[in-house]
Amino acid sequence: MYQIKFPKKVYSGKDSLSQIKEIIEGRRPENIFVLSDPGVAQNGLLDDLLGILDEISASYQTDFEAPKEPSVYDVEAYAKKLEEHRIDMIIAVGGGSVIDMAKILSVAVTNPDLIKDLRAPGAIRNPSIPMVAIPTTSGTGAEATANAIFLYPEEDLKVGIISEFMIPDYVILDVRMTMGLPPALTASTGVDALCHALEAYISTLSNPFCRMFAKEALRLICSSIEKAFLDGKDLKARENMQLGAFYAGLCLTTSSTVAVHALSYPLGGKYHIAHGVSNAMLLPYVMEVNEAVCRKEFTELAPYMLGDISHFKREELPHAVVRYLFDLTERLQIPSLNSFGVSPADIPYLTDNAIKVERLLLKNPKELSREEIQGIYERLLTEKGKER
Ligand SMILES: [Fe+2]
Repeated sequence: MYQIKFPKKVYSGKDSLSQIKEIIEGRRPENIFVLSDPGVAQNGLLDDLLGILDEISASYQTDFEAPKEPSVYDVEAYAKKLEEHRIDMIIAVGGGSVIDMAKILSVAVTNPDLIKDLRAPGAIRNPSIPMVAIPTTSGTGAEATANAIFLYPEEDLKVGIISEFMIPDYVILDVRMTMGLPPALTASTGVDALCHALEAYISTLSNPFCRMFAKEALRLICSSIEKAFLDGKDLKARENMQLGAFYAGLCLTTSSTVAVHALSYPLGGKYHIAHGVSNAMLLPYVMEVNEAVCRKEFTELAPYMLGDISHFKREELPHAVVRYLFDLTERLQIPSLNSFGVSPADIPYLTDNAIKVERLLLKNPKELSREEIQGIYERLLTEKGKER
């Protein structure tokens, strides 16, 4: 048995931002909360949205200070603010962190006990207030998924909270919102999306829904990520990345990520390496370890990822996919683990904490031993840039 979950309504294409008017006029909220972050606000990306809200005389509060790495304490503070202002609709404009915060707030309003303990089983029982996600990055797929990630500072741990009530009700994919994304973020968030599609495809939860969206996500992302990295104004490449990241996000509501994301968690929790960057560092190494058990899947995906495969023999395709991932992350200038101050002495800590992410490791197509996990971190520290 498998199922796929979608947002209620998704708007895409030219000038889709203007559809916010239709959404608000349909739902008639009393007071809207517009959440964003300083980077998005400085780029002027909120001007058109706020202009529309003013034009239709909508009542709204703004907060453009959403934290980059939201913690459980931030959730608590924001939830109080929403209660004070009697908010009954949320519009999130930003990357994964902004959208994740809006998702948890949309259910915090209707589930007041949630704030006491986000991790309490069954804490999210009631549907959310209406929430609109307007992504400004093309990566996390947060606009499509049912989960949100928060930092527990005392535990040096990032925890994923999952509820289908957190899938945004409305998604607006307007490419104009992603045009200003700097190259390094274009690369790391884009590879995060690539991870979602590829990991979901090889997960033990893989299914026909996921495989259809994953193939198209990989075709869109792999054909466009370098173009968008090199020329941020390439409209077609940006459109492909935006759609590819959304499709990859849909894959996660029907399948799952696997060992790349599992090994990434401790790098985010303790060393505060951005989610997309740690995934991008790990991706080729984890897939190299998986190659022996994923030969069929990598062969199927090769035409979507590599484009023209006519010069390969069929049996060469699985390794060509792995080699492509090493080359791609090199060309996208993904930083090395050493550059974040991680040293060989940290490897036992990383390994211990990766092993705890059983939820994802158990879905990896290959059972990874402690030695294999440790080996991946060791190679990440010592082998970057090595010829393959
Ligand atoms: Fe991710």
